[in-house]
Amino acid sequence: MDRRQFNRLCTGLVAGASSLHVNATDITPTPRSALVFEDDSPVTLAQLNPGEAWIFSYPYKTTPCFLVRLHESAPHQGSWPGGVDHDQSVVAFSAICSHKMSHPARPISHISYQDKPVTFYDKQRQKQTQRGVISCCSERSVYHPAKGGQVLSGPAPVPLAAIALEPDENGALFATGSHGPDQYERFLQAFGFRLAMEYGTSDVRARVGNTTKVVLAKDFSAQQVLC
Ligand code: FES
Repeated sequence: MDRRQFNRLCTGLVAGASSLHVNATDITPTPRSALVFEDDSPVTLAQLNPGEAWIFSYPYKTTPCFLVRLHESAPHQGSWPGGVDHDQSVVAFSAICSHKMSHPARPISHISYQDKPVTFYDKQRQKQTQRGVISCCSERSVYHPAKGGQVLSGPAPVPLAAIALEPDENGALFATGSHGPDQYERFLQAFGFRLAMEYGTSDVRARVGNTTKVVLAKDFSAQQVLC
């Protein structure tokens, strides 16, 4: 084995070890669920357009998440494995704001993916204008979906929880776990009564099944509050 081959082998081993570390220790696995459209056809990577935001429930039937193909790559960062597809531009995050748990509800949503530029003050009080962020208009928290949902602005204490996605060999998407500090239990306790009515269920802690429906964010809530 020459030196170049040896270096390639070492690089491969390190990369493999690193991805194993991410998968083994940082993602909380939850039941695998196929993302499907309203007609039960699979959601595939090829059907997701840049800048279009979708909502699906995961890991509970009453906990909403965003699915977005970003205009940019979302590479592995820290313990977050990054987006999927060849350019790592497809990401999913819990849509429950880490501040006071504002979330998309059927009548109204104060939190949304913003494809148009949003102006905010960053942590250094510098004015920024950026497109492709997740913005919560309740108290103006802004999250960066290409950087693991990190907080760019506002009172949110921690990033959005990321949802682990896995495409199969045809590009069909599956949700398989949750990464980072999630709000699920706190959310279900705080909003359980209203969620039971909104989702028409007596068990707000029911997990999604083998499939979970994906709908356009603009169709999920009757009104989206922008800021
Ligand atoms: S609930 Fe989102 S910023 Fe307060």
